[in-house]
Amino acid sequence: MSQPLRFALIGAGGVGAAHLTALETLENEGRARLICVADPFVEALANTKSSLAARGVRWHTDFQTLLEQEPDLDAVAIATPIPLHYKMAAAALARGLFVYLEKPPVPLIQQLNDLVALDTRQKVGVGFQMVSSQQVQQLKQWKVEGAMGQVESIRVSAAWPRFTRYYERAPWAGKMLLNGDPVFDGPATNALAHPLHNIMFLAGNGMDDFDAPTEVEGEFYRARPIESYDVASMRGRFESGITFHFTVTHATETTRGFRIEVIGDKGAAWISDNGDMVGNNLGIPCPVSPFPDAFLQSYRNFIAFATGKRQRAPTRLEDCRGYVLTTNGALASSGSIHPIDSKHWKIYRVEDEEGYDVAGIADLVERCASEGKLLSDLQIPWGRKGHAVLVRGLRSIQLSDYISH
Ligand SMILES: NC(=O)c1ccc[n+]([C@@H]2O[C@H](COP(=O)([O-])OP(=O)(O)OC[C@H]3O[C@@H](n4cnc5c(N)ncnc54)[C@H](O)[C@@H]3O)[C@@H](O)[C@H]2O)c1
Repeated sequence: MSQPLRFALIGAGGVGAAHLTALETLENEGRARLICVADPFVEALANTKSSLAARGVRWHTDFQTLLEQEPDLDAVAIATPIPLHYKMAAAALARGLFVYLEKPPVPLIQQLNDLVALDTRQKVGVGFQMVSSQQVQQLKQWKVEGAMGQVESIRVSAAWPRFTRYYERAPWAGKMLLNGDPVFDGPATNALAHPLHNIMFLAGNGMDDFDAPTEVEGEFYRARPIESYDVASMRGRFESGITFHFTVTHATETTRGFRIEVIGDKGAAWISDNGDMVGNNLGIPCPVSPFPDAFLQSYRNFIAFATGKRQRAPTRLEDCRGYVLTTNGALASSGSIHPIDSKHWKIYRVEDEEGYDVAGIADLVERCASEGKLLSDLQIPWGRKGHAVLVRGLRSIQLSDYISH
């Protein structure tokens, strides 16, 4: 085996804790070595800091200082809030490092285009780890082999409740902009960005290929009084003729795990239960759980790529074009984030926290997927239809245009 890849980690709390766990496992496997960490919130992370110090891992409070003062690095993992991804990835690329960048890479298409231009040697791998999961790989293999026949449609639905603490945990939660930097936080563009990105992967022709839609329609809504949205419904079309539907929410009391269904003219295959189960109606036997850890597998694939054992990162920046074009085009299509009138939702309590529940929403998101519809097609009183947007030519959007004051 080659020398372990020498990592810095930027952002050690939140999802950074999962990165630390993965990096420790990878260190034990001889694949990686964590050299240093950057996170300004030292007091909140005092225990993490002292256990890392015991392992000889240095701590910086500023990522620029880390990049300036740590000469012996091969790669940097960026596990920070969304509005920081763009400048941190750009700085790490300027330093010539491989970059494992948490999903979503950046909120806006113009930022993605800028980073793609900076990443001349395609050294960025984006942490959309589900693409590396056995479940998604299985679905893609069936699609590539033609098991479902000609694929016509890919559908996703999910209802994941989120409570007060989720929105209060960080200043960027529920925001469109933070100090002028794009955030675009919400179910489709943060927690449930994975299945949307998987649609782009599953639509691609070859095993590693992604596609980007030509046309998108979208609707964004809010029940909770946030700047951003907590209900989103989108549909789109690829040049191949495949269409997709994607409807998700956090404004729900009922939980429905995400389901991704690929429908062809010979039958359908799906992932259900938040990605845990694979099924089909094609008579093909399905592998049995438990599946390996996708987060760890994604890192292993990235390290294999950075050490020359794999041709490319599982998700390169360019492979996020479909995801970014879809979310940006859907927002342009929606025109604004539509508030849902309070007569259509209630506030419910779980211990000391509040959740918002739009009447019937869990069933509505599932109907959008099963019937191939947008929420506004379901004749609900708060539904607001968007206009179709040709996204191939979309070069930039401004989130400030979609904030209601
Ligand atoms: N891959 C996944 O399944 C997954 C899961 C959860 C979150 N995420 C993604 O991870 C990212 C972070 O989300 P989160 O909820 O953990 O965020 P968070 O707000 O909890 O922040 C993560 C860490 O970044 C640190 N941080 C903040 N500002 C910093 C700065 N200037 N320099 C260095 N560190 C800084 C914070 O102190 C914190 O420790 C987001 O892009 C999110 O979408 C991915």
